Amino acid sequence: MSTARTDAFPADFVWGAATASYQIEGAVHEDGRGESVWDRFCATPGKVRGGDTGEVACDFFHRYRDDMRLMKELGLDAFRFSIAWPRVLPSGRGAVNDAGLDFYDRLVDALLEQGIEPFPTLFHWDTPQALEDEGGWTARSTAEAFVEYAEAVVGRLGDRVGFWATHNEPWVHAWLGHSWGWHAPGRTSEQDAVAAAHHLLLSHGWAVEAIRRRCPNAQVGIVLDLAHVYPASSSPEDEAAAWQVDGQGNRWFLDPIFRGSYPADQLERNEVVAPFVHDGDFQAISVPIDFVGVNSYRRFLVTAGAEGPRFISDPELQHTEMGWEVYPDGLRQLLVRVAKDYAPAAIYVTENGAAFGDVRGHDGSVHDPERTAYLETHIAAVGRAIADGAPVKGYFVWSFLDNFEWAMGYSKRFGLVYIDYPTLERVPKDSFHWYRGLIAEHRDAPRPAPVVTGG
Ligand code: GCO
Repeated sequence: MSTARTDAFPADFVWGAATASYQIEGAVHEDGRGESVWDRFCATPGKVRGGDTGEVACDFFHRYRDDMRLMKELGLDAFRFSIAWPRVLPSGRGAVNDAGLDFYDRLVDALLEQGIEPFPTLFHWDTPQALEDEGGWTARSTAEAFVEYAEAVVGRLGDRVGFWATHNEPWVHAWLGHSWGWHAPGRTSEQDAVAAAHHLLLSHGWAVEAIRRRCPNAQVGIVLDLAHVYPASSSPEDEAAAWQVDGQGNRWFLDPIFRGSYPADQLERNEVVAPFVHDGDFQAISVPIDFVGVNSYRRFLVTAGAEGPRFISDPELQHTEMGWEVYPDGLRQLLVRVAKDYAPAAIYVTENGAAFGDVRGHDGSVHDPERTAYLETHIAAVGRAIADGAPVKGYFVWSFLDNFEWAMGYSKRFGLVYIDYPTLERVPKDSFHWYRGLIAEHRDAPRPAPVVTGG
């Protein structure tokens, strides 16, 4: 069935699929939800391809029970979703909107009824617009508001949810949203990105403490977008360029979380961030966590350029619809490196998957052999990373459903389930059936009896 040998994964390995609130929920005006920066970004002409918005998305807000039947059919152990802060605190802080929390209450109960572990992320980029109007993540006060939000959510769901991720991909939200202008809130200031990243990390540390106060037995972590960086050659210039990219994207987040300081070699960025760092910040940020979530889709290949590191790719390799190389061993190398250099208690691959040009056949089905091959080779790479000593405890396909791919709108399909957007009909793709078989194969695999030691 797959090249990923069943005995490569422990019997309690978690097989999941991932999504995010703004990308699938829709219902942006329902039950008292407040405006988010992504609502505002989508309403700004020219920001999102084709003027697409998350107003309807996959209408998961209304269809989650039907979708849960598909999750059950798939055989998922866990479902990763995110909670929309503007549903819970429409103004970002203050009065809790109980109707907004009620949705997640229903969702968690429905998942548990199906025997599926809820695996929520508190923040997946949909900041309440009211907070952005006061400076957003460039302001330390937003980190304080995030704790209020975390307490409201965990206070309601903490009796049933055993895993909490504070943030999703702080690098993407900080740099694409605050320096490059590609994502909401659409800021274009390097200082804003550095400040936002610091406050995201700080709010992570504070929220971990807040979650632990309410749910001392919960597993708490953070989800980072990481990629193994390869120099284009063994020249000192290319090695230095790769190290610089590794510093800006990987170590800028891994170091404060696991070592309590920013990487010293990032001299320029350390100067920019210094005014935002208060005494005690790194102690908060580096609070011990139970897992690190790793989102990784591709490797980076880097060469030294006249203006700094230049990203290149190998034209001989397959590329996805996102233009990303298909390079499975990059995932193995990344997981082994994170394990070796940072010794996390556990790693979950919280996102891995690929966008390909999926179309429905005349019989209505969706044949996506490229996605199946991508998943097969990358899951096998995770198995090899485990064999190499990485404490990987689970794997989540991005994504369960085709969904709103941020500034690219609905033009990129990552789902195991095809969404026919005009009708919102769900169509399990061939990769859905392949993944279901793999999960069943792993679940039913005979495993050596545990060795009983002692008298
Ligand atoms: C991310 C986000 C997802 C994306 C996915 C494909 O990793 O950027 O978590 O929301 O949709 O990665 O780009």
